[in-house]
Amino acid sequence: MSASMNKIKHIVTNIDQQAKHYENLQDEASRKALIAEAQSLIATLELPREYVQRTVFAEPARNTAAQLAIDLELFEGLVAAGEEGRNSAELAKPGDADPALLFEARILKHLAAMNVVEEIDADVYRGTALSTALTVPKFRDGIPFGLDATGRVFLDIPQYLAENRYRNPVGVSQGPFQYTHKTEREYFEWSIHENPKNGAAFKNYIRGYREGLPSWTRPDFYPAQAELANSLQKNDAILLVDVGGGFGQDLQDFYANNPSFHHASILQDRPAILSSIAPDSLHPSISTMPHDFFTPQPVRGARAYHLHSILHNWDDAHCRTILGHLRDAMTPGYSKMLIFENVVPDRAAHWQMTRLDWLMMATCAALERTERQWRELLGSVGLVVRRIWSVDETTESLIEVVVEGDEEERM
Ligand SMILES: C[S@@+](CC[C@H](N)C(=O)[O-])C[C@H]1O[C@@H](n2cnc3c(N)ncnc32)[C@H](O)[C@@H]1O
Repeated sequence: MSASMNKIKHIVTNIDQQAKHYENLQDEASRKALIAEAQSLIATLELPREYVQRTVFAEPARNTAAQLAIDLELFEGLVAAGEEGRNSAELAKPGDADPALLFEARILKHLAAMNVVEEIDADVYRGTALSTALTVPKFRDGIPFGLDATGRVFLDIPQYLAENRYRNPVGVSQGPFQYTHKTEREYFEWSIHENPKNGAAFKNYIRGYREGLPSWTRPDFYPAQAELANSLQKNDAILLVDVGGGFGQDLQDFYANNPSFHHASILQDRPAILSSIAPDSLHPSISTMPHDFFTPQPVRGARAYHLHSILHNWDDAHCRTILGHLRDAMTPGYSKMLIFENVVPDRAAHWQMTRLDWLMMATCAALERTERQWRELLGSVGLVVRRIWSVDETTESLIEVVVEGDEEERM
């Protein structure tokens, strides 16, 4: 038997075993392991010609077709059609004449060929769980956010790097994003000032991106009672400051998952983000405070300063400014920093981490970091890792950080 046939048989045996685990446990780990085995089978079976045709033509065409289906509300039409499905003429919006019908059939035909919708008869289409999910803003808007802000940048990166003599991109005003979009603004500024439509899509995308990912606020991830509650005696002590905390989801999750905590926490972000949060939608212990994290931190001596998906948006020089302001606000022997980010393993990193590293290169000239990179960055501003808490090698870890010299003390 050829070596590749042996490999295929081995993977098929693994798929069988993983499918049984998944059937018995119905858990995330066995679901992900089953997907990894199935992807490995495709990578072994697929011919180079098929790989090129699929990745270079079929997948970009599917992404464009999905964007058009969103623009033309075809997925909504399929939800309304239910099990019976609809043909392309029925799905075309009133007023759209013959060319549009042909147009829509082409869109739907490719989406069916790529398993996004089902073609149940000639020119009769039915929605899938995926196409139905793509009617919900938090999933739907990942497509315009990705294609418009980032997809173009990926295409330009080879030219950008060639022109920059293959230097690792750094610097928020001259990275690949600015090269493609012909701007000097960093992504968040650009989406506020030059492309608010994409900024709105980003907000929804972030909500969907978080869904189902393990939150550090779960007591089985990080035992907050043991790690944070012990020194919190004063009633007016500030528990958490969520720096660049977006819409406050992490603080909301914290109070939901740790109901015994009643101390106050502060949500900081740019004014434009905070003003879009509905009044009274936050837990009563959370208050908001506009704050630019490149300026000195006004809340001194909190129990913990929290940063989620912030530092991976910035190169080391900018991170040192952000971290330095927080270090200056920390009370040695009492305050901690809680950084919720990926810690990329030295080998066999999961694609969820490597693609985020590329996304950070494209949008922010920044990166996902390995443990060594985290320790070096933090050490360069007088901070030290006390412990790294992880539950899953494909998602973020909680890096618990203290001021240098504090690491031996009981916190
Ligand atoms: C990737 S989002 C992460 C949001 C939140 N921590 C989360 O994990 O959902 C980055 C956040 O940083 C905020 N941000 C960017 N630049 C900022 C600045 N200079 N000062 C404060 N917040 C900033 C953005 O508004 C955005 O909410």
